[in-house]
Amino acid sequence: MSTKEKLISHVMKEEPVASANKVTVVGVGMVGMACAISVLLKDLCDELALVDVMEDKLKGEIMDLQHGSLFLKTHKIVADKDYSVTANSKLVVVTAGARQQEGESRLNLVQRNVNIFKFIIPNIVKHSPNCIILVVSNPVDILTYVAWKLSGFPRHRVIGSGTNLDSARFRHLMGEKLNIHPSSCHGWIIGEHGDSSVPVWSGVNVAGVSLQGLNPQMGTEGDSENWKAVHKEVVDGEAYSPTSSTAGTDEKDQQNESKMKMLEHTWAYEVIRLKGYTSWAIGMSVANLVESILKNLHKVHPVSTLVQGMHGVKDEVFLSVPSVLGNSGLTDVIHMTLKPDEEKQLMSSADTLWGVQKELVL
Ligand SMILES: NC(=O)c1ccc[n+]([C@@H]2O[C@H](COP(=O)([O-])OP(=O)(O)OC[C@H]3O[C@@H](n4cnc5c(N)ncnc54)[C@H](O)[C@@H]3O)[C@@H](O)[C@H]2O)c1
Repeated sequence: MSTKEKLISHVMKEEPVASANKVTVVGVGMVGMACAISVLLKDLCDELALVDVMEDKLKGEIMDLQHGSLFLKTHKIVADKDYSVTANSKLVVVTAGARQQEGESRLNLVQRNVNIFKFIIPNIVKHSPNCIILVVSNPVDILTYVAWKLSGFPRHRVIGSGTNLDSARFRHLMGEKLNIHPSSCHGWIIGEHGDSSVPVWSGVNVAGVSLQGLNPQMGTEGDSENWKAVHKEVVDGEAYSPTSSTAGTDEKDQQNESKMKMLEHTWAYEVIRLKGYTSWAIGMSVANLVESILKNLHKVHPVSTLVQGMHGVKDEVFLSVPSVLGNSGLTDVIHMTLKPDEEKQLMSSADTLWGVQKELVL
């Protein structure tokens, strides 16, 4: 008799129970692992699966996580290169992506990521045909469109993390300026994740008190308090700038480079300069979205969804608008009362994104 047999008397033979809240993270890079640990520490799923093409990294990450299982309440953590490990996922977070190579145009990078998605998305669909796909990889708005097209899923089951992170950054900076916790600082950044994101100044408030009501110049060049700089820091916090990805010209690349150099003093750019990437904030913001979906909270988040027919957008593009997230995915969109120049900015982002999407080989 083994020690185990001496220790344990079986009362019944348990039937295997399928996971009800399984989450898969595709891509175990800096962002993927930050998402994974944030989801685990918030106790959001009953099974976590990780997938990547780098087998050693995948094995190392899974072992590292499993060694912490004493401190977690997620019973099952699995990983494999083979997508069968993702079977029956409720939610799949896609963070896989290629990094820009020296001298490579950003448009070329987009196409390389599309090619990666052409492999990933059909595999996700094959093993979890009813899942919700949450795209994080950049350029997130374009890749969410690509995932939607490749998956054949209805639009409510393909969501991009979009400006959820941009809005969190904005609220943090607003909180610093006011010495108030970010959760009490309300403000929405919508549109494209990155360069052309749109701060909705008319909605910025604390306890329902409109800050633009107190300072009508807020967000304009004429504002002596320079609130516009808060949004500028949000934009410059992103290492990758999706709109500029459309250019791919040397001139635009040089402009971006000199812009980055000029902004070396800003705190957000400092993160990228100092550690080379962003991870913790995006991980926490993704876990926040995962929570709303898996717990069916019907919370409103700025995430990327198909905005064709909204705010004058005519083409099939994905941009962030306040959206209700629950167990079925993205169920509703909130109509924001935007000013004409804000709508113009959204339409201009939509045109730029469509210009890139048209050229993609899907
Ligand atoms: N949406 C946002 O707010 C936001 C914020 C930060 C970063 N990002 C984006 O997240 C992505 C990941 O960033 P990172 O810093 O983790 O990069 P990373 O290079 O550290 O990790 C990328 C991972 O993807 C994996 N990968 C590549 N091809 C794959 C494939 N076919 N299948 C599975 N895995 C594959 C790589 O092996 C690697 O482990 C990037 O596109 C980045 O721009 C988005």
